[in-house]
Amino acid sequence: MANIGLEASDQLEVMRLHVDAALEALVEEELENDAGQVAELCASMLLAGGKRLRPLLILLAHEIAGGQDADEVMPLALAFELIHTATLVHDDINDEASMRRGVETIHSRAGLAKAVIAGDWLFVQGFGLGGRYEEKIVRLMAKCCADIAVAEFHQLDHVLNLATSPEDYLSIVRGKTAGPFASGCHAAGLVAGLSEQQAAGLGRFGMELGVAFQLVDDLLDLRGDERMGKPRGADVIEGKMTLPLIHALTLSHGKERQRLADIIEDFDDNDFDELMRLLERSDSLSYAEILVRTHLERAVLELDAFPDSQAKNLMLHVTNYVMDRHL
Ligand code: IPE
Ligand code: IPE
Ligand code: MG
Ligand code: MG
Ligand code: MG
Repeated sequence: MANIGLEASDQLEVMRLHVDAALEALVEEELENDAGQVAELCASMLLAGGKRLRPLLILLAHEIAGGQDADEVMPLALAFELIHTATLVHDDINDEASMRRGVETIHSRAGLAKAVIAGDWLFVQGFGLGGRYEEKIVRLMAKCCADIAVAEFHQLDHVLNLATSPEDYLSIVRGKTAGPFASGCHAAGLVAGLSEQQAAGLGRFGMELGVAFQLVDDLLDLRGDERMGKPRGADVIEGKMTLPLIHALTLSHGKERQRLADIIEDFDDNDFDELMRLLERSDSLSYAEILVRTHLERAVLELDAFPDSQAKNLMLHVTNYVMDRHL
C-alpha cells in the first residue's frame, strides 16, 4: 500500500483515507439495512474523526510481516477500530465525559441506556468482522477485550487510592490501552503468515507503543491540549491515579504532600495551576516523559527483527508521532 515518492506523513494520510473510506462503506451498508438510530449514533461517533491509530498499526504490521495484500487484513483493522470506538462509548459513560472526537458523546445526546446499547452494537460489529479470521486471531481479540474489562475494574478499584503504585498503573495501562495495540499487531503478523513466535515480536512492539501512548494521553490530559477534543484535567476530576500523580505523591513530603493529597481528593479546576506547580516541583511530568521515551525505544528495538522496508519506516514514523504529539 505504501507509495514511493510521497513523504511518510502523506503516505500515512493516504492509508488513513483508505481506512476512513472502508469505515464509511461499512456504516453505509448498515444504514441501508435499516439498522436505525443505533447505527446512526454509532456512525456519527465512528466518523467523527479519530486518529485511526489502531487500523494504521495493523496495516503496517501486516506489511512489515511480509503481507502483500492489504485487503486481507483490512477487516481486522476495521474490527479493532470498531471495538476501540465501543470502548470509548462505554468509557465516556463511566468517565461522565460530554465530548469525544470533538463532538457530543452518545450518552449526552441519546441518554445512558441507548449509549450502553450503542457500545454493544459497536463491539458486536467488530467481532462480526474479526470473526472471519482463524480461531487463534479471534481468541486474541476476545482476550484483549476481556483484559480491557479487567483493567477498567482495576482502575475503578483504585479511584482516589493515594497508595496506588506504579505497578498498578502499568498493569491498568497494559490492559486497557496497550493490550489492544499488542493484539492488533500480533494478529496482523499472523494474517501475513508469520509464525507465532515472530508475530509475538510485533505484539511486544504494540504493547510498548501502547504504554507510551497512554502515558502521553495522561500527560496531555494534565497539560490540556485542544487536539484532545475534551477539557483538561478530566482524569483528576475522575479521581484517576495517573503516573505523574503517583510519582509526586511518592516524592513529596510534609505540607506539600498533604496539599497534593487534598487537591487530588477534592479537585476543583481553580486548583489546576497549583497542582501543576506541585507536579513540576517533584519533576513528575519529566519522569513520565522519560518513561515515554523508554517504552518507545523498546518498541523500536522489537522492529529490528524485521527486514528494512517502507512499511517499517512508516511504523517508525508513527512511533515518533506518539512522542511528538506531546514532547
Ligand atoms: C483514546 O484513544 C483512548 C485512549 C486509549 C487514550 P485515541 O486517542 O486513539 O482516540 P481516537 O481514536 O483518536 O479518537
Ligand atoms: C483509555 O483511557 C480508555 C479506553 C481504553 C477506552 P481514558 O479514560 O484515559 O481515555 P480517554 O482519555 O477518555 O480518551
Ligand atoms: Mg475517559
Ligand atoms: Mg477511562
Ligand atoms: Mg485519557
